[in-house]
Amino acid sequence: MAILVTGGAGYIGSVTVDQLRARGERVVVLDDLKRGHRSAVHEDVPFYQGCVGDRALVTRIMLEHQIEACVHFAALAYVGESVLDPARYFENNVGQGIVLMDSLRQAGVRFVVFSSSCTTYGEQDQFPISETCRQWPTNPYGWSKLSLERVLDSYGRAYGLKFVALRYFNAAGATEFQGEYHEPESHLVPNVVSAALGEKPEVCVFGNDYPTPDGTAIRDYVHVSDIADAHVLALNYLRRGGDCEFFNIGSGAGNSVLEVVETARNVTGRPIPIRIAPRRDGDPAKLVADAKKVCALLGWNPRMSDLPIILRSQWEWRRKHPQGYH
Ligand code: WQD
Repeated sequence: MAILVTGGAGYIGSVTVDQLRARGERVVVLDDLKRGHRSAVHEDVPFYQGCVGDRALVTRIMLEHQIEACVHFAALAYVGESVLDPARYFENNVGQGIVLMDSLRQAGVRFVVFSSSCTTYGEQDQFPISETCRQWPTNPYGWSKLSLERVLDSYGRAYGLKFVALRYFNAAGATEFQGEYHEPESHLVPNVVSAALGEKPEVCVFGNDYPTPDGTAIRDYVHVSDIADAHVLALNYLRRGGDCEFFNIGSGAGNSVLEVVETARNVTGRPIPIRIAPRRDGDPAKLVADAKKVCALLGWNPRMSDLPIILRSQWEWRRKHPQGYH
């Protein structure tokens, strides 16, 4: 039996593929390479370039491999971009996601681990955020993830498709082989490291008038290796007969934009100039996870999700890979 990983050439997907393989799992990757990197997938892994909404391609993959489960990462995932082009986000993340779920269901695939997001919560007034908190996204990206959560919930109840939805907070950091490298790059941690490398003259700080101690937005940064671990645990939880569930994947610690910049200055020894810019549309002021449930039910134990460790790992990966995946 094999595991289909959609978006397996992407940042979190490629780290998860590595971890699944390290545990002896057979993996097949489907990725359209719009954001992913072909070189992020080991040559031994069966690779299909295409869209998850291509029913004929997904059906062919099912026929060529005995797919037991799907880990579904493939999605557009930039908050700011989703505000500017919501149609693209709903077509890609929801429209194609529904076609994928139907293809899997009809092929008899039993388990789905779904890459969801903390952006499904939107603005909150109580912290940390638990899975029972109200979900009202502040951007189309968050709505696209919440929409597919609802589809999975309905499919689970009606068709018995067993799923786990992992609501990541802010994925960041690098392993020895895989780091965060998008073109263009919109995420804070890789942008701060890029400025430390001298690739950017400064870091734009999007807003310093949020209702937070230093006025900049607070996020819960989680090391990509810890996030990948959660996917392996979720898959085995489903194999053991676990019920459909939603889990927050976060460290429980919140850091502001300015704290990330200052920590990066300490880790890299570089000045990292900043420029205060207007807020970015769609950004909530604060997102910090309550991850007690995933630790209790899946036995998740994030060992790398400490901000200096996260920043140091991305810094070291980028210094070894000055051209990223090129
Ligand atoms: C973080 C903060 C920016 C860049 C990401 C993913 C999303 C979800 C949550 C999984 C914000 C500010 C950023 C910069 C800045 N994860 N910022 N200067 O938007 O929280 O969402 O994690 O689903 O998929 O996109 O991450 O790193 O873009 O922004 O000031 O150059 O840093 O405004 O407040 P975000 P981010």
